[in-house]
Amino acid sequence: NTRQPIVAIDGPAGAGKSTVTRHIAQLLNLMYLDTGAMYRAITWKVLQSQISVDDEPAIAQLVSGSRIELIPDQDQIRVLIDGSDVTEAIRTQEVTRNVSAIAAQVAVRRGLVKQQQQLGRRGGLVAEGRDIGTHVFPDAELKIFLTASVEERAKRRYLELQQKGDLNTSLEEIKQDIIRRDELDSNRTIAPLRKAVDAIELSTDGLSIEQVTNEIVRLYTEHLKNDDAPGSSNG
Ligand code: CDP
Ligand code: CDP
Repeated sequence: NTRQPIVAIDGPAGAGKSTVTRHIAQLLNLMYLDTGAMYRAITWKVLQSQISVDDEPAIAQLVSGSRIELIPDQDQIRVLIDGSDVTEAIRTQEVTRNVSAIAAQVAVRRGLVKQQQQLGRRGGLVAEGRDIGTHVFPDAELKIFLTASVEERAKRRYLELQQKGDLNTSLEEIKQDIIRRDELDSNRTIAPLRKAVDAIELSTDGLSIEQVTNEIVRLYTEHLKNDDAPGSSNG
């Protein structure tokens, strides 16, 4: 039963998970699993289908009838649902505002976590989300909990939207949206956003993407070295 290592990266919105995970995947030659994109794809489809976001039975059925694919494409991941490319469509504010309510539903989590575990069964991946270290891959070799102050996270999102030419909201509104989403994600009953007991917390205020990436690569290399040591379970 040999599987390749798994790195779990969790944390609140805007902590830098996606950006840093993309770099780590490239540098360490690991597969990149963006679990947030899967919750977003389901949310996109719910909104398209005109199903109410609190119609749990209808959403449960929608999840079981959906096929999500994550396809590496140069330095990003394309997201497909039932064959449609929704890579850009899942990043709209409408999806962002509704995703946490849908991600709190038991059938949604059960369905998507099963797919995530299936994708990761051979390891060799870095997975990013809210519950990777606590629920999806509790036996991950390295668990990172990325944080930053809500002010810094809101500022990052603001700059990102500005650069994309997609800024139609204020810094304060972005901040309130982040606070609301963090609350929903942290207080839901099933697999809430939480640091795993064995996760390493990295506070990223004032740190560049490169600094955070380098620190995680260092921790990974150090960890693998320890695992190869005589007497370790992998040895
Ligand atoms: O990138 P950002 O932090 O804005 O969000 P995301 O990682 O794309 O995740 C969007 C939403 O999906 C989160 O706010 C959670 O409600 C949900 N999610 C989750 O419940 N569990 C995960 N493992 C990943 C995301
Ligand atoms: O995935 P998550 O919501 O945790 O965050 P992200 O989408 O990776 O990062 C949000 C924004 O913050 C992006 O525009 C990143 O380029 C930026 N960022 C940063 O400026 N400094 C960091 N240390 C990490 C991310």
